Amino acid sequence: MTLMQAYVFDAYGTLFDVHSAAAHHRDAIGPRADELSILWRSKQLEYTWTRTLMGAYRDFRALTAQALDFAAARCGGLAPGVRNALLQSYETLDAYADIKPTLAALKAAGARTAILSNGTPDMLASAVASAGLGDLLDVCISIHELQTFKTAPGAYGLVERYLGVKPGEVSFQSSNRWDVAGGVKYGFRGVWINRTGQPDEYVDLAPARILPSLAGLLDDID
Ligand code: LAC
Repeated sequence: MTLMQAYVFDAYGTLFDVHSAAAHHRDAIGPRADELSILWRSKQLEYTWTRTLMGAYRDFRALTAQALDFAAARCGGLAPGVRNALLQSYETLDAYADIKPTLAALKAAGARTAILSNGTPDMLASAVASAGLGDLLDVCISIHELQTFKTAPGAYGLVERYLGVKPGEVSFQSSNRWDVAGGVKYGFRGVWINRTGQPDEYVDLAPARILPSLAGLLDDID
């Protein structure tokens, strides 16, 4: 496998641990913290898809707050101050340990690197700064300017515009299998970072590679 021109990464779940916000406030949330975190993420994603289909865009920060409110209501509510603490934590989520060395090696090898995310530009800037990834990324692309979330093809099309590359020159990494499917459908070489051993789905839109972490991305580059 030769080096691809560009390596584009999903943000939430792929670079940043979406469950770290609840993990940092586990005691304040109470015994249903894990259930709340899973529901929070799943509702957040549902809202992106339904609102894109409806043509009723609200930005990712607003949808993240709405999803938390639903999850909290289902899980017995949150003590005063915990809602804001969780939303604040979402701005500076923990980054996975394998990111920095992988991005640095890709850049050293001559590839271009980017984020393509549903997050707002502000949220992404905050997460990238807090993880210290700024120097390792050529560009951080948000779908916000299009008001169309992934998996709409136009969202993936932003990569061509920002990086000046063709879809077949892009390796697209995501931990979200639905997002890998969207990228593959668009024409990217998809790499599924299956951090939690999930079963496969969208089998007609298969990734070129399945890796347990980003570290394996460099293994097969000549
Ligand atoms: C992202 C979320 C959806 O686009 O994972 O970063």
